[in-house]
Amino acid sequence: MAEVVNLLQQMNKVADPANMTELEMKHNPVISCPDSAKADEPFECTVHVGKLKAHPNEAAHHIEFIDLYVDDLFLCRVDLQARKSNPRITFEIMLRQSGVLKAYQSCNMHGVWVSEKKMSIS
Ligand SMILES: [Fe+2]
Repeated sequence: MAEVVNLLQQMNKVADPANMTELEMKHNPVISCPDSAKADEPFECTVHVGKLKAHPNEAAHHIEFIDLYVDDLFLCRVDLQARKSNPRITFEIMLRQSGVLKAYQSCNMHGVWVSEKKMSIS
């Protein structure tokens, strides 16, 4: 018997970026920003949920929030309202040292998803 995965009981992540499922394409928080920046200088970082395949945006099924961290340090959060805001957010952030940007998003039906992007600070 195949194991049933409960998306609400775990941190979800794309298993194979070269072969994403439809569920993964709808939920992966895609991080877009430069690969490098100068210490303490602001740069834009966009997180887009549904970039690869649109995610529903209805009261019964929507993205609740998007969080951005560097390593384990919280940077910012945006709460979203179904049918009133789309899950595509641009943050302006400043970092002091290199690290891994981590974007988290929460779907009310499919749990929390995370993606990562290395960021080099000079
Ligand atoms: Fe969903």
